[in-house]
Amino acid sequence: MENLVKSPVNINYRGVEKFIDTPKFTSVINEALNSYETLISKNGEGADFLGWLDLPSKINSDEIACYQSIADEWRDRVDCVVVVGIGGSYLGAKASLNALLHSFGCKKNGANWPEILFAGHNMSEEYMAELLDYLQDRTFAIIVISKSGTTTEPAVAFRILKQYFESRFGKELSKERIVAITDSSRGALKEVADREGYRKFVIPDDVGGRFSVLTPVGLLPLAVAGIDVKLLIEGAVAMKNECYKKSSVNPAIVYSALRNYLYRSGKTTEIFVSYTPKLQYFAEWWKQLFGESEGKNGKGVFPASVGFTTDLHSMGQYIQDGLRNIFETTLKVNSSLREVLIPYDKSDADGLNFISGKRVEECNHNAHLGTLLAHIDGGVPNISIEIDTLNEYSLGALFYFFEFSCGVSAYTLGVNPFDQPGVEDYKKNMFALLGKPGYEDLADEISRRNS
Ligand code: PA5
Repeated sequence: MENLVKSPVNINYRGVEKFIDTPKFTSVINEALNSYETLISKNGEGADFLGWLDLPSKINSDEIACYQSIADEWRDRVDCVVVVGIGGSYLGAKASLNALLHSFGCKKNGANWPEILFAGHNMSEEYMAELLDYLQDRTFAIIVISKSGTTTEPAVAFRILKQYFESRFGKELSKERIVAITDSSRGALKEVADREGYRKFVIPDDVGGRFSVLTPVGLLPLAVAGIDVKLLIEGAVAMKNECYKKSSVNPAIVYSALRNYLYRSGKTTEIFVSYTPKLQYFAEWWKQLFGESEGKNGKGVFPASVGFTTDLHSMGQYIQDGLRNIFETTLKVNSSLREVLIPYDKSDADGLNFISGKRVEECNHNAHLGTLLAHIDGGVPNISIEIDTLNEYSLGALFYFFEFSCGVSAYTLGVNPFDQPGVEDYKKNMFALLGKPGYEDLADEISRRNS
């Protein structure tokens, strides 16, 4: 088996080799190559939702200039921007900001970009009350995002924030400070935005929520936070070129084939591992992408995540020694962008002088290697997805890599990656319980079940 070089995202599967029977794996690679054909020729299930495939190469400088002009306009005028959305209308931006901004809020070169806050991604009353506390003595703008325009969590949050905004700054200013991102022709959010005269951006019809990070859904919140979205797109374009290569060493095809091979051999849980807290929300984005795309018809790899070394002190025991139905996919960042050395200490009370003068990164790297060996010995196959450094470019490449892999993987699994019928069930029950008109029969049925 050949490992890959030269791509913004590489795959290394030495940690899986001992779990693989090569002829059987070759046959799964061939299945993945067929799924790749289905995906790029757009003739599989859900083909109406493949707009994301070509998206990175279609984004032009005028579109970027629109995001930039809002960013420049708000930069010195607002303290915060509240991004309202849930699921695919929230996780891409959250993952990117977590990965790219300073962990403790220090601004790059003293730049005065607004702080980005999130709302509408939960239904917690305390969260909302505390957000309003926080906004009390701050100026703010709102980006409200919902493709359907009818999702309850963001709709509730937006109703509250809209009224609060108007009570503080007046309706007129909302035309400048509220931007809606939604469907081109349908939905309650579009109606409100048209009525109130908000600026609007469209989520293309053929791009589903969890594949929408490279549309205004991800790009506008990132631009207003001062992120170079052009670089993010360049990374995605470079990865698109790699993913489109029809080859048994294409990293997306190899990853998709490995997941399906391991799943069929009883490894039904995939744990996404990272060694930096900066990837915590990228893991959440990845879980939604694979969970909603593959978990259907009684099938699908269960996507879980851990952050090491933190979780070696909580989940490490289970991964090493618990039920053997797991494999790990580690997102390895080859070099840290910052350098911190471990100092020499005269007393050496902690016995750590043997690592004095070394970088913290070297310890992290060796923790990674040590863990990898232990987990392989413990019966956990390990796929390693690798990037050089964590920056706008590699993040754009990673988004595209996992989206493409997800399409190939789900087709290989035999499911339509682009629908989410199961998400609707809880909503119907919730509407019935809350007394929404039209849900009376279901409300009666639920009250009979509960009596
Ligand atoms: O991937 C998806 O389609 C979902 O996770 C949606 O993004 C999520 O349910 C939010 O939907 P909407 O943008 O319509 O409010």
